[in-house]
Amino acid sequence: MGIKRSLLLISIFSLVAISACARPPSDITDTPESPDSTPESPDSTPEAPDDDYSPNAPDEAADGYAPPPEAPTPSATFTILPGGSYPELDQICGATDYPIECVRFISPYLNDSIKIDPLNVLKVGIHVATNMTIEALNLAIKIRDDPKTSPNAQSCLRVCTENYDLIPDGNELALRAIGERNWSDLRNQLSGDLTSVNTCIDVYHEGNLASPMRDMDSDLLALYSVLLHIAVDMVKF
Ligand SMILES: *[C@@H]1O[C@H](CO)[C@@H](O)[C@H](O)[C@H]1NC(C)=O
Ligand SMILES: *[C@@H]1O[C@H](CO)[C@@H](O)[C@H](O)[C@H]1NC(C)=O
Ligand SMILES: *[C@@H]1O[C@H](CO)[C@@H](O)[C@H](O)[C@H]1NC(C)=O
Repeated sequence: MGIKRSLLLISIFSLVAISACARPPSDITDTPESPDSTPESPDSTPEAPDDDYSPNAPDEAADGYAPPPEAPTPSATFTILPGGSYPELDQICGATDYPIECVRFISPYLNDSIKIDPLNVLKVGIHVATNMTIEALNLAIKIRDDPKTSPNAQSCLRVCTENYDLIPDGNELALRAIGERNWSDLRNQLSGDLTSVNTCIDVYHEGNLASPMRDMDSDLLALYSVLLHIAVDMVKF
């Protein structure tokens, strides 16, 4: 229950947080109509969740400014180690919105000497998430600073690097909040992390560009959603 509301608030927040990435100011003044209002398409679903991000989806709001790429280049991906099989982890992950990603990312870092309960899964998951975020941040910086990257993509990547840069500290504070049994602080830190990832994804979505690291971005979205879900609904201090 709480998780849905948090996700909705986060989506609204990240729409507000979007910069002018890939969208010149003239584009906004020339079109008084809101980009979301598409009365001519009755089947449009403006309430679709953010994780339905699909770079190929036609977007009438683009006004031909940034046509969707016909054959998007492959996305960079994380290298994920194979993990063991743990029935308790399957049960915890099965209660989240991304059960497959949850098991895939966290199981490589579990072993028989760890008691698999929501709190330990959360702690290991936060460490995994920090590492994955740093990997994504370093790649985003590399692509951003590559002269072959288009200026539009560079401005989107700038939003992503600024946001990903905030996450490792947020995760440290989340771990500290666990140590202090401060549930509201834990939830706030993990919400902030999820907002940062959402902001990066939305900025590409709004600009109608395919991120060169969209698979990594959606993996991070899945992992932070899982962590927030575990923190909000399963962890008891
Ligand atoms: C088990 O996993 C934990 C957390 O990933 C790690 O700190 C610990 O060293 C591991 N223990 C063994 C015996 O591999
Ligand atoms: C995170 O990265 C550090 C440094 O690269 C490594 O020592 C650690 O084992 C990694 N932990 C996890 C959970 O991925
Ligand atoms: C939790 O942490 C916040 C911020 O650090 C602090 O303001 C609050 O008093 C803490 N709550 C508890 C119950 O310790």
